Amino acid sequence: MCGIVGYIGKDNAKNIVINGLKRLEYRGYDSAGVAFIDSGKLKIYKKSGKIRNLEFELNKDLSLPHIAIGHTRWATHGEPNDINAHPHVDCTAKIAVVHNGIVENFTELRKLLENRGHKFKSQTDTEVIAHLIEEEIQKGKNLQEAVLSAVAKLKGSYAAAVICESEPDKIVCVRKDSPLVIGIGEGENFIASDVPAFLSYTNKVIFLNDNECAVVTADNIKIFDLNGNKIEKAIKEIPWSIAQAEKGGYKHFMLKEIHEQPKAIGDTISGKMSIFKKDGKISMDFDKVQIVACGTSFHAGLIGKFFIESISQIPVSVDYASEYRYRNPIIDNKTLIIAISQSGETADTLAAVRLAKKKGAKVVAICNVIGSTITREADYTIYTHAGPEISVASTKAFTTQLAALFLFAVEVAKVRKAINEETENKLLNELSEIPKKLKTFLELEKERKFIRKIALEFYNSKDALYLGRFVNYPIALEGALKLKEISYIHAEGYPAGEMKHGPIALIDEKMPVVVIAPKDRVYEKMVSNIEEVKARKGKVIAVTNANCSEIEKLADFTIEIPITEELLYPFLTVVPLQLFAYHIADFLGYDVDQPRNLAKSVTVE
Ligand code: F6R
Repeated sequence: MCGIVGYIGKDNAKNIVINGLKRLEYRGYDSAGVAFIDSGKLKIYKKSGKIRNLEFELNKDLSLPHIAIGHTRWATHGEPNDINAHPHVDCTAKIAVVHNGIVENFTELRKLLENRGHKFKSQTDTEVIAHLIEEEIQKGKNLQEAVLSAVAKLKGSYAAAVICESEPDKIVCVRKDSPLVIGIGEGENFIASDVPAFLSYTNKVIFLNDNECAVVTADNIKIFDLNGNKIEKAIKEIPWSIAQAEKGGYKHFMLKEIHEQPKAIGDTISGKMSIFKKDGKISMDFDKVQIVACGTSFHAGLIGKFFIESISQIPVSVDYASEYRYRNPIIDNKTLIIAISQSGETADTLAAVRLAKKKGAKVVAICNVIGSTITREADYTIYTHAGPEISVASTKAFTTQLAALFLFAVEVAKVRKAINEETENKLLNELSEIPKKLKTFLELEKERKFIRKIALEFYNSKDALYLGRFVNYPIALEGALKLKEISYIHAEGYPAGEMKHGPIALIDEKMPVVVIAPKDRVYEKMVSNIEEVKARKGKVIAVTNANCSEIEKLADFTIEIPITEELLYPFLTVVPLQLFAYHIADFLGYDVDQPRNLAKSVTVE
């Protein structure tokens, strides 16, 4: 997601901020900008695309400011272009704001501010913050008071930093649900979304907590709560190398992204209102759904079929986009197409979208990258809020796609009266519990390293079989895909009921069989499948709930996941399989984030 950097001190603030932004490039971004105060005047430079575009412009300005804030933007509201890039300013262009997060009530606030005469330049949610601060300063407040009053009106998440001409010796920053850290130097101080931005200058830091505000000058850092009461904070020393820190301390982006899933799913769920309430509300005039996607996104689509058919009672077909585009699908004006793509640039999925549109269908994109081609060509887009996914192997994009599909199914069911309010609330409540459950699971695994120990037993295997039924059958496919793409071990996923029709011939004492068997409607069937594997001396790694004693007795290894509503198990069962694949590839010493022959975005057929 977005990156924030700020500097105040004796050196050239412009250069320090640009270098800090480069250190945050790993977060992913589509535009960048810097604001600084030179000789009492606020100046802003912002450019879409790479930081070097911004640097090129900035280098033409020979001023040597001692205060600057900068930003790399990952678009959420408004296209990635120069105007929407941060920093954003108020009507007087004397206050500059950079922001990471989502202001959920920005439409309302913008309307209010426009009615009071404010002129907006961008389509971003962030710009409202600059105008809110402007109003408070006009009422006679100082910058810190004005920032606190402004953020009190915001709903959503923010890490924001503000500078202003009237108080050119300070950066004021605030945080709620988005990271912000302060770096402590001598006669200079830093702020950033993440430590690597300033790690080459200092490793002494103060982590801002939610609902805290900092006033940072060259020689001083004062922290307050949102009521303006002073807070004492501990200074921490970070023992990281730059290389480590860029991955937030994780060895690989894939591992980091696996651990980001609770937040990514939570963000996608909390973004749900914008899915259905924005302009161009999805028309409900359809009687069948066709899902098209590739790879991991296709597996999300297979699970989406269970969600939509079970909850909304509408027939769904799921196709590989590469097949769909050549099979002359039957489409009419009552067909809704859902195209799922993390990148929004996958060539086959795009071709499927174009074909469907040509035949008169409406297309909904489920996509993670704002402004990508598929979102531009689709009639509607449901954005996932996974943040940039850097590792080639998709993890958090997948689980956020599941969240979007589940929300879609519930919304359609509600509008078409396929479910009552009680069921709707029950389903949404269960979904909203998933991030917490996953977080607990991941924390426990971090402590016990149980999946890593299982991976150590199997990393020399030549083949692996993954079995699942019902809504976890696509998880068997996804688990096998994860293993093969990063560890190069041959793996196959099957619906467990198909085992007897062929794959059982493969099972011997060398074959790891990963069985996904939570306590759902097909649990007993899965227990029988495990018996069949064990009878042939296969090694069983079971993903199941605690207290499933039959499985625990039979399986060689049992990974316990939390309990949830049966349709939601894929959120919980896929994560151990992602970790299993990751640890195997790591034991084999492969470049996990950049597997051979694979690209993050497949823009060719
Ligand atoms: C697997 C993986 C790929 C992608 C596929 C579709 O880990 O990442 O299988 O899922 O290339 O990509 P998007 O979702 O960008 O269309």
